[in-house]
Amino acid sequence: MQVFTKISELRKAIEEKREQGCSIGLVPTMGFLHEGHASLISRARRENDCVVLSIFVNPTQFGPNEDLDRYPRNPEGDLRIAETNGADFVFMPEANEMYPRPAATRISVSGITSLLCGASRPGHFDGVGLIVSKLFHIVKPHRAYFGMKDAQQVAVVSRMVEDLNLDVEIVPCPIVRGEDGLALSSRNVYLSPEQRSQALVLSETLRKAPEWLAEVGGDTERLKARISTRIREMPLADIEYVEILTYPDLEAPSAEVESSWIIALAVRFGSTRLIDNRLLTRDDLAKVIHSIPMQVAKGE
Ligand code: PAF
Repeated sequence: MQVFTKISELRKAIEEKREQGCSIGLVPTMGFLHEGHASLISRARRENDCVVLSIFVNPTQFGPNEDLDRYPRNPEGDLRIAETNGADFVFMPEANEMYPRPAATRISVSGITSLLCGASRPGHFDGVGLIVSKLFHIVKPHRAYFGMKDAQQVAVVSRMVEDLNLDVEIVPCPIVRGEDGLALSSRNVYLSPEQRSQALVLSETLRKAPEWLAEVGGDTERLKARISTRIREMPLADIEYVEILTYPDLEAPSAEVESSWIIALAVRFGSTRLIDNRLLTRDDLAKVIHSIPMQVAKGE
């Protein structure tokens, strides 16, 4: 495994791989790696000849009052996880390597960034779009791997790739959970034991959501209310949103179920903001909502 801090040196090494006919898989991260990241790296390992892991706490996706300065870091631990899971190249640039001066270019995906995390974190997805497109231009990967815990991020990056005809396949990867069900996140280290135990309500409500959806006859407002009521039973929980939308277009679901739905949660425990979600495919929905006519797609 080789570690790079300079764009030019990384580019040169990747170029050599590409000349040998290697496929390139990119796993973009902000470090403080956990099992969720490890699953992305090992999937990229299985599906590509050369795996590039980027570790960069990207300042442009943090708002002024967010946790940029205290975002957890552990470069030695990250390198161990990178190596164990088969990364070939690790790219760990300093901020001034990625942004020698403030970027004047904005990558702004409209519509789907105006709600969920985009509503509470203005500018966040512009920062994500900017850094991800810079990484795509530097690495020129065939495939890029993103965890579905950040489902809105996956939708935004996929839309950017589609709109800009970028030649990269976005590979969404399943959420990885701890044994207790909590979705793995670098920010979980901020939680006190009590906050962590109350935070399990997120995965609990998502687990029960299909059953509850059937009980409320497919009524998404009633399901949202039921999830919110259960979360509010936890005294340390402060709900930012509980939403049910179509995925990946993030629109209000209609009676004619044409695409997957996402149940998306953002809840604060003290100063720690946790997100979690569950996707329900058309087939999942067909099993639980008998009263809503499932529109048969053309050709089916
Ligand atoms: O999901 C993350 O860790 C970040 O948003 C990403 C994609 C690495 C961009 O900084």
